[in-house]
Amino acid sequence: MRTTRLRLVGAVAALLVAAGIGAGTPAQAGHQQSTLADLAQRHGRYFGSATDNPELVDGPYTALLGSEFDQITPGNGMKWYATEPQQGVFDFSEGDEIVDLARANRQKVRGHTLVWHSQLPGWLTGREWTAPELRAVLKKHIQTEVRHYRGKVFAWDVVNEAFNEDGTYRESIFYKTLGPGYIADALRWAHQADPRVKLYLNDYNIEGVGPKSDAYYRLANELKAAGVPLHGIGLQAHLALQYGYPATLEDNLRRFSRLGLDTALTEVDIRMQLPATEEKLDRQAEWYADLTEACLAVRRCVGITLWDYTDKYSWIPAFFPGEGAALPWDEELRRKPAYFALREALGGR
Ligand code: G3I
Repeated sequence: MRTTRLRLVGAVAALLVAAGIGAGTPAQAGHQQSTLADLAQRHGRYFGSATDNPELVDGPYTALLGSEFDQITPGNGMKWYATEPQQGVFDFSEGDEIVDLARANRQKVRGHTLVWHSQLPGWLTGREWTAPELRAVLKKHIQTEVRHYRGKVFAWDVVNEAFNEDGTYRESIFYKTLGPGYIADALRWAHQADPRVKLYLNDYNIEGVGPKSDAYYRLANELKAAGVPLHGIGLQAHLALQYGYPATLEDNLRRFSRLGLDTALTEVDIRMQLPATEEKLDRQAEWYADLTEACLAVRRCVGITLWDYTDKYSWIPAFFPGEGAALPWDEELRRKPAYFALREALGGR
């Protein structure tokens, strides 16, 4: 199976290159064949990419972003530090720019993210808060942002990265001050502000079944039983070749579906130790195909989002020195084996 697919992917890539529409002609082929989004739509899924405001001046980059994908997520522009830089002073300019771009390209937007321990503004982290004070601050932040984007984003990562690897709650400022109930409160407040938007909890290292995804499973169960508005679980899927493929991904997606929840692969990238070799790029391609097939196999897995689509704008090299090459397009916006594997997994030729 594995070898067959690799051979097929290689053959398809070779054919495309021979036809002059393969690697080396980044934007050219877009109009000649179906896009990843077209292919995903045939399965009732979206296929998206994160993007970030500073990248939007790059013409070839935005051309592909606008043509290949039907969903985008702002990588930073909707985070708390960007949207409420001073207490009670809101600035939605970065998120709005992404929403406007999405509208121009007829793409949908995932909102990311309302409550996270990272990228918080200094005014919030620089002092102590009583529980009633922080509750009020949190509620105002969530409701102002969700109201601003009502009708403009179809889903929100309401709480991001709430658990530690062992399934205990992360000791964020919100958990420490408010206790675990902050999650249900955040979901309820978001729902009040936009009753139609899909509300997600989102995290990394929860692709396979394990202590951290079990914690989400238990929490989701409790929240559903208590009637809290939770609609989906986002599995970030920041994978790394050296740590192995999460073989229980499909089972994991399925168990969340059975709770009546949507799932999505929200921040996909597959990094490797550099230099990238042909063998590593082929293995990476295989993983991209495998995770796509896992999503397609589970009805309520609604879509896949790359954490940006090109190595040119990947967060990986800055955070994991010596690692990179994580995305299906390289730094020159040339398509890599992973791109062709994605097409094939989505049923394209
Ligand atoms: O805005 C400043 C800029 O003024 C300054 O000149 C520059 C110099 O370093 O830094 C800029 O801030 C950077 C910011 O991205 C905006 O570009 C930060 O240093 C950098 O740390 C930050 O990284 C972001 C990271 O979240 C922070 O944890 C990445 O772009 C973003 O892709 C990444 O996304 C997260 C998801 O939100 C949650 N899941 C994990 C994922 C990867 O870390």
